Amino acid sequence: MLKGKHIILGVTGGIAAYKSAQLARLLIKAGAEVQVIMTPSAREFITPLTMSTLTGKPVITEFFTANTGEWHSHVDLGIWADAMVIAPATACTIGKMAHGVADNMLVTTYLSAKAPVFVAPAMDLDMMAHPSTSANLSLLRSYGNHIIEPTSGELASHLIGKGRMEEPERIVQVLSDYFSESKPLKGKRALVTAGPTYERIDPVRYIGNFSSGKMGYSVANALASAGADVTLVSGPVSGQNLSKNVCLIKVESAIEMLNACKDVWHDVDIAVMSAAVADYRVANQSQCKIKRERDSVPNIVLAKNPDIAATLGGTKKDHQLLIGFALETDNEVQNATDKLSRKNLDAIVLNSLRDAGSGFGIDTNKITIIDKTGNIIAYPVKSKPEVATDLVNYIIDCISNK
Ligand code: CTP
Repeated sequence: MLKGKHIILGVTGGIAAYKSAQLARLLIKAGAEVQVIMTPSAREFITPLTMSTLTGKPVITEFFTANTGEWHSHVDLGIWADAMVIAPATACTIGKMAHGVADNMLVTTYLSAKAPVFVAPAMDLDMMAHPSTSANLSLLRSYGNHIIEPTSGELASHLIGKGRMEEPERIVQVLSDYFSESKPLKGKRALVTAGPTYERIDPVRYIGNFSSGKMGYSVANALASAGADVTLVSGPVSGQNLSKNVCLIKVESAIEMLNACKDVWHDVDIAVMSAAVADYRVANQSQCKIKRERDSVPNIVLAKNPDIAATLGGTKKDHQLLIGFALETDNEVQNATDKLSRKNLDAIVLNSLRDAGSGFGIDTNKITIIDKTGNIIAYPVKSKPEVATDLVNYIIDCISNK
């Protein structure tokens, strides 16, 4: 897939720059032509000689070569490239890219690039978690760049957390997937919620529900195979398989789920709300374990949780497709249709606990999709991955008719 592709590999000044040598090697091995651009500080971490030896091309760092006066045209490079990948991308370069601070060859070329841009952040966990980094990455996403999420693990600081640059093999895979056959949801960003939420009573107890997350994880995987860039916000579940292409955000409570969804919602084209969100949380949550008392029982006070689907529905734009789920036991179509309009959804996926083969924890589901114009499509009982594929095919139809 990468044979003959012109790739600009941007390297910035972080310790993960050592991995960019391996990345260059793998890209060359896959048949790509690679032009490396380094920021001045990247040269402190890895030598241009290493990169030029691996790629067979002189590395570019400055706007011109001092001793010959040869000018490096960022405009020509931008036109030459079939893709630009910035790996590692430091918080500094991400900030400059987000705000157009074109004070080096790399950012100038990024601003001139017509090709798709892939950004693989690498930094310490606190920098990664800083609101300015999230805001800058969000800006980059909104400009259509592809963010290759960093992974979690031991960092150069010996701290453990999110911030490790994705492995070079995986970055090459992301690029080849991009250039492989065109997929119906390519370029679309999707948000999926899945699983239950847990509402803490005290540090050892919670209120939860039986949702296994199977349906939501299947939907996330099916959207990713259709080419969407998927973020899955998941409550506590275990044992679910997730495609490597899906960005997973783990949450515990409804409020955390809402905040995670709000962070990405403005960038999203498709949202599927399949989580079984707890309707109430504990208002008098105890910071210490509640002790068993002999003569009385504790008084648990409940407060209403926010409705995540309805919150997103309240700010929905024309290009955004918002789909909810409704698990009902009676008066199914009426209840689901009420939810559809109350939450400003475009469609709702109804499953009834009265149908054999539907419900929590089992491997099958029987769904009926109701849209906001009152159209109803009923499907037979199928495995949850097959149901997810039906739903994604429905989404593809909706997107192409929008
Ligand atoms: N939902 C949500 N946030 C909530 C409750 C529900 O986002 N606090 C979403 C679910 O993910 C689902 C849809 O809304 O997509 C319907 O959820 P459901 O629990 O069936 O509906 P409720 O609004 O909670 O109504 P009820 O419990 O009365 O049936």
